[in-house]
Amino acid sequence: MVTGAAGFIGSHLVEALVAQSHEVVCVDSFTDYYDPALKEENAAGLDVARLDLAEQDLDLDGIDGVFHLAGQPGVRSFGDVFEEYVRRNLLASRRVFETAAAAGVRVVFASSSSIYGDAERYPTPEDTEPRPISPYGITKLGCEQLAYAYGQEFGLDAVVLRYFTFYGPRQRPDMALTRIVDALARGATFELYGDGLQSRSFTYVADGVSATIAAMQHAPAGAVYNVGGGEEATMRDVIATLEAVSGRSLDVVERPAVAGDVRRTSADAKRIEDDLGWRATTELGEGLRAQWEWASVRVAAP
Ligand SMILES: NC(=O)c1ccc[n+]([C@@H]2O[C@H](COP(=O)([O-])OP(=O)(O)OC[C@H]3O[C@@H](n4cnc5c(N)ncnc54)[C@H](O)[C@@H]3O)[C@@H](O)[C@H]2O)c1
Repeated sequence: MVTGAAGFIGSHLVEALVAQSHEVVCVDSFTDYYDPALKEENAAGLDVARLDLAEQDLDLDGIDGVFHLAGQPGVRSFGDVFEEYVRRNLLASRRVFETAAAAGVRVVFASSSSIYGDAERYPTPEDTEPRPISPYGITKLGCEQLAYAYGQEFGLDAVVLRYFTFYGPRQRPDMALTRIVDALARGATFELYGDGLQSRSFTYVADGVSATIAAMQHAPAGAVYNVGGGEEATMRDVIATLEAVSGRSLDVVERPAVAGDVRRTSADAKRIEDDLGWRATTELGEGLRAQWEWASVRVAAP
C-alpha cells in the first residue's frame, strides 16, 4: 500500500512498484495544498482510494507493507496553517501506525531532512541532535517519535526515511526547482527567496524511490536512514545549470528568506549504504535535464 499515491513522490513509487510486478493499493485524499488537478494527472491510470487518513483507518487485510508518504509538506508552516500540519502529519500518522501495529504490517515512513533544522554537523549523520526550525519539521519529528513509541509499546515494525529535497518530473509546484523550470519554460519571473547561497543535498526522485523500496524489503525494524543525493548545490548553482540546459536566461526577482527554510542540508548517507547498499546514482546535471524536459514539454502542450 502506498499512501500519498497521487503526490509527487508517491506516484513515482507506485510506478516503480508496478514495474516490479507488485500489486499496489493506492490511497490519497487529494488535498488542496496545491492544485488537485496535478494530483489527478500524477495518478492517471491508477485506482486511488480516497481516504482522509486523519479521520479514516486503513484496511490492511492482505497488505504486506505500507509506504506512508501521505502528509502535509512544505516549510511555510508558521501561523494558522500549523493545524493542517498537525492533522495531516501527526493525526493521520497516528492512525496509520496504530492500524499497522495491530495488523503486524511494516510501515516505511517518509520523514524529512527538516527534522535537523540548522544542523550542528555537515554532512549530517542520523544521530545528530534534531533541532527543527519549522513547524513542519516539528510535526515530522513528532511522527518519527510516534513510530518509535508504537514500536516500543505495540510492536510496530517501522522504518524511518529522512528524505533530502527530492526533485525530478512532477516535483510539487511549491518547490524551487519546479518554479525555476516553469519560469524558464514560460519566460516568467522566478522569485528567489534569500541570497541564493542556501544549499541542498538534491536527490533525484528515482534514486529516492529505490531507497524507499530497499528499506521496505531489507531494513531492520526500527532503522532510521537519511536518503540524500551525493551532490550538494546552492540555488545559484542549480539556476546556472538549468539556464545552461534550457539555453535560456532566468528572470530572477529577489525576495526575503522564508522563515523555517534552513541554510544548508547535506546528507551523510553512509548508514543506508552500509546497511542496504543504496547510494544515489543520478548526477545533478542529468536529473535537472530530465526535470527541464518534463516541464518544457508540458508548457508547450496545448
Ligand atoms: N518532496 C520532498 O523533497 C520531500 C522531502 C522530505 C520529506 N517529504 C515527505 O514525503 C512525502 C511525499 O512528499 P511529496 O513531495 O510527494 O508531497 P505531495 O504533497 O506531492 O504528496 C503528499 C500526498 O499526500 C496526500 N495527503 C495529505 N494528507 C492526507 C491525508 N490526511 N489523507 C490522505 N492523503 C493525504 C496529498 O493529497 C498528497 O497527494 C510527504 O510526507 C513529505 O512530507 C518530501
